[in-house]
Amino acid sequence: MDRRDFLKGMGALAPGAFLARAALAATTSQSCPPITSSILDPGTLTPFLDPLPSLPVARQSGMRPNPEDPSRLVPFYRMAMKPCHVRVHRQLPPTMVWGFENASRSLFPGPTIEARSGEPILVEWANELPLKHFLPIDHHLHGAGTNVPAVRSVIHLHGGRTPPSSDGYPEDWYVPGKSKTYYYPNGQDAALLFYHDHAMGINRLNIYAGLEGLYIIRDAEEDALNLPKGRYEIPLVLCDRFLHQDGSLEYPISGIPGKPWVPEVFGNAILVNGALAPYLDVEPRRYRFRILNGSNARFYRLSIADGGDSLPVYGISSDQGLLPAPVELQTLELAPAERADVVVDFSHYRGKRLLFESYPFPIMQIRVADDGNQDTSSLPGKLRPVQRIDERSAVRTRYLTLDEYLSMADQSVGMLLNQTRWSAPVTEKPTLGTTEIWEFLNSTEDTHPIHLHLVRFQILDRKPFDASTYLATGEVSFIGDRIPPEPMEMGWKDTARATSGMLTRIIVPFLGYHGRYVWHCHILEHEDNEMMRPYEILLAKA
Ligand code: C2O
Ligand code: CU
Ligand code: CU
Repeated sequence: MDRRDFLKGMGALAPGAFLARAALAATTSQSCPPITSSILDPGTLTPFLDPLPSLPVARQSGMRPNPEDPSRLVPFYRMAMKPCHVRVHRQLPPTMVWGFENASRSLFPGPTIEARSGEPILVEWANELPLKHFLPIDHHLHGAGTNVPAVRSVIHLHGGRTPPSSDGYPEDWYVPGKSKTYYYPNGQDAALLFYHDHAMGINRLNIYAGLEGLYIIRDAEEDALNLPKGRYEIPLVLCDRFLHQDGSLEYPISGIPGKPWVPEVFGNAILVNGALAPYLDVEPRRYRFRILNGSNARFYRLSIADGGDSLPVYGISSDQGLLPAPVELQTLELAPAERADVVVDFSHYRGKRLLFESYPFPIMQIRVADDGNQDTSSLPGKLRPVQRIDERSAVRTRYLTLDEYLSMADQSVGMLLNQTRWSAPVTEKPTLGTTEIWEFLNSTEDTHPIHLHLVRFQILDRKPFDASTYLATGEVSFIGDRIPPEPMEMGWKDTARATSGMLTRIIVPFLGYHGRYVWHCHILEHEDNEMMRPYEILLAKA
């Protein structure tokens, strides 16, 4: 069955049919993203010439009153979004990106913010970008019309338990010359979070331009585990890009006049901490790698290869922090916006050159020294208890479909959450302090990483259904048993892979704040084209 057969039932689906037809009428020509001859083939560069860039930690510039209690002072950071030039590879001219300036350094990815659980901080996010965008805006996308300024930004802390006024609502963007100061209470467990742009309709372009960076929350419980730390704890931000031979960034376009949006971008150059094919010197001991998939659309299957074999690595954390116990892995799968920490022991690989890869893409060479300092770190057999949430505690189950719409030429013209556009009234309104089950029925060919702001949740299970029957008749018939979450998904999550052809169920305690947030697919091309919805947490009635 080809893609067309699989999806042609779409038009028969009554509630969404109007959209599918409208889209069909609007799209007449098919084309693939043209890859011009000036696009760099990374295979033509000498790999492993440059060391892996380490990501500098952001410096605070003084203390400011805590907005919740002005008698107390909290650290204040200033981060300015600015164009800057970075060298992704020694054999390439510098690449112009949009990075974050802090303490007079402009960086892509941005400087890492270090925070502690329960200790609030303030961050001023200043938009000091130029007035003209350098990537192809599609003015047909919602919120990106010709009636709004081309360059806009608003920063969201992904995975943060943040009050709504500081969460970076997509429509709260502001223009060059303006800034906003956001308050992050950090009232949550130790975890690897990240900050990134979230501007309505151009989010994929702003992040592709470089507007992302890490935010690490630590706590005493994690510190007590004595995991590898300091220079043995290495953050790795992965993102894929297309580069021209002159080093400049290329964002692909559809070829449809006036409608450059493409359904996904899969670049051929995989950057790690902003570098293409660097190397990393390690000692023969344990390391903790903290990995973010900061790509627009690419999923990774990561492994460390010693010739033909892969090293065992131990997964210890997922999106929202520590797992109950380490998980032995050969490969680590990461969807866009997912994070994972792994501990790797190089002590049996003295003198070796290993390859960190997402087959078939080499990402980085790891060079293990013959000797090093004594390893005093540990990898405990138990990390942090994660109490599984009882399904019976859910006050409500929401059934939500993930839908794709195709043109006559079988080109994706967009996807929706529950057949509903961004601008429709809010439909998901959980009550603060209650727990709900959200189930995602994915009849599309893609796996969509679904992210909810503010909350952390657990994955219950996935169950395969017959997607072609569903697309033809709207009927859901299951064709297999419930599949439990993968071992790496047994901790707290904020982004869940809603697998193609499955009903994926998550259970979500709505805790923290009430107000307006969003939930969306974290494939940024999908998110920008209507695969995002507002949701609102209501205060319980007295
Ligand atoms: Cu990574 Cu809406 O966020
Ligand atoms: Cu988020
Ligand atoms: Cu998606």
